[in-house]
Amino acid sequence: KVLILDFGSQVTQLIARRVRDASVYCEIHPNDVSDDFIKTFAPKAIILSGSHASTYEDHELRAPQAVWDAGVPVLGICYGMQTMAVQLGGKVEWSDHREFGYAEVRAHGHTQLLDGIQDFQTDEKHGMLKVWMSHGDKVTVLPPGFKLMASTPSCPIAGMADEARRLYAVQFHPEVTHTLQGEAMLRRFVRDIAGCKGDWQMGSYIDEAVAKIREQVGDEEVILGLSGGVDSSVAAALIHRAIGDQLTCVFVDHGLLRLNEGRMVMDMFAGRLHAKVVHVDASEQFLGKLAGVSDPERKRKIIGAEFVEVFQAEAKKLKGSSTTAGSGGGAKWLAQGTIYPDVVESGGTKTKKATTIKSHHNVGGLPETLGLKLLEPLRELFKDEVRALGVALGLPEDMVYRHPFPGPGLGVRILGEIKKDYADLLRRADAIFIEELRNTIDPATGKSWYSLTSQAFAVFLPVKSVGVMGDGRTYDYVVALRAVQTSDFMTADWAELPYSLLKRTSGRIINEVRGINRVTYDVSSKPPATIEWE
Ligand code: XMP
Repeated sequence: KVLILDFGSQVTQLIARRVRDASVYCEIHPNDVSDDFIKTFAPKAIILSGSHASTYEDHELRAPQAVWDAGVPVLGICYGMQTMAVQLGGKVEWSDHREFGYAEVRAHGHTQLLDGIQDFQTDEKHGMLKVWMSHGDKVTVLPPGFKLMASTPSCPIAGMADEARRLYAVQFHPEVTHTLQGEAMLRRFVRDIAGCKGDWQMGSYIDEAVAKIREQVGDEEVILGLSGGVDSSVAAALIHRAIGDQLTCVFVDHGLLRLNEGRMVMDMFAGRLHAKVVHVDASEQFLGKLAGVSDPERKRKIIGAEFVEVFQAEAKKLKGSSTTAGSGGGAKWLAQGTIYPDVVESGGTKTKKATTIKSHHNVGGLPETLGLKLLEPLRELFKDEVRALGVALGLPEDMVYRHPFPGPGLGVRILGEIKKDYADLLRRADAIFIEELRNTIDPATGKSWYSLTSQAFAVFLPVKSVGVMGDGRTYDYVVALRAVQTSDFMTADWAELPYSLLKRTSGRIINEVRGINRVTYDVSSKPPATIEWE
């Protein structure tokens, strides 16, 4: 296994991600672990992360001596390179302007790390790499034993290596995707230079994660808010695998869920996994609070606040009950399905919207008021890894590959005031649309239109229009269908669904859902429209 020492860079997790992409197990630990820790960990290789700090000012921020004594390959990235230089007798110079962004790096000599890895070639000797840089200080004198590995015009020592000791360092960031060959470099380092086998898979991740949860939690009890979404479902399945009945899931039905959602969640978790699930039907309470409210932001706030209230009341009950399984005497832990993208702060990756999303998803503020410790076993995983983990844990693919569903649920898909009747109509129309998307296969790709779209749903419009059915005139409501394709949900295109699919969906909704006599398709992209209508 590989040890990643974190000096506080925002992208340290990405190093782990790339190492895992090479099927090698790794763990991230703080840079100031003890020498003994490193000896016991017995890494096959060590990677030193970047940092916002400066080796010039932060004299304490160094790698433990054991890193250099371990005799294993070491890769320093950015700050990791600078601390390597300083600790091994080179020199780093302080600079007051930062180099930030895209750069072209020239490779020097033949090092095992970069040999044959390049984006293009300028002359016979030199390969060029397109990389991403972000640094202020730079190495100006190589430590004894090192040779130059890479350079840019503004950073003459952008890479260095002491191949006899298998020490490598780069000033740029191979872990970010903007460094096109970054994945190849990290793979070269862990697989070829360090000789890691590359036999790590999700299955082994489960074993490690299970062991870690058991160690963290001991015999104490855990509660988790289960929403039916991918993240909380996978977290629940993983924690249940680890501690069984010490976990209690709380599933709050706010009356704004999709059709059969409650039943599906209960069947899966209580029925198939035999997990303890408390199903709280709070729909009347929620709908009561929402009566007469039509402003979207107020609706969101009410739903969010009410959710916290209901969950908190349930959690208190569970906390008080020491008669349930385990010997912990009531819950001590609150588990959440926080995933890595939720953790990354600033750096342009987190918008105001994302903050809102988080507060809905993650029951903000709860752990403090309840005096609970936080258990977040998915914190290091990306969405696709969470999905792979879910499948490896035996969750059905249908559940794991579901489109995202907003915390306020149908509350933001019923325009204006929310009424139970509206929600009932919308649920049925939405279910028909989703069913048709799942059943319609695109001949070009062999995939269903459900998997070809990122998010799709129906929206209830509280306006009435005239229609004709049989011999009679109808005067009923309208639904809009929305389907988008996007990679990050920040921008999105409306999906060019086949007309035949739209036709079938519209025909079925109007025939099967009495009360709706008109269906429209939303052809607005984001921006300027948003994905949801509210
Ligand atoms: P918009 O409508 O802003 O949505 O284009 C982008 C993504 O965020 C989801 N979304 C929410 N999720 N609480 C959530 O948990 C919310 O209040 C919320 N509003 C929007 C939306 O479904 C889409 O995936």
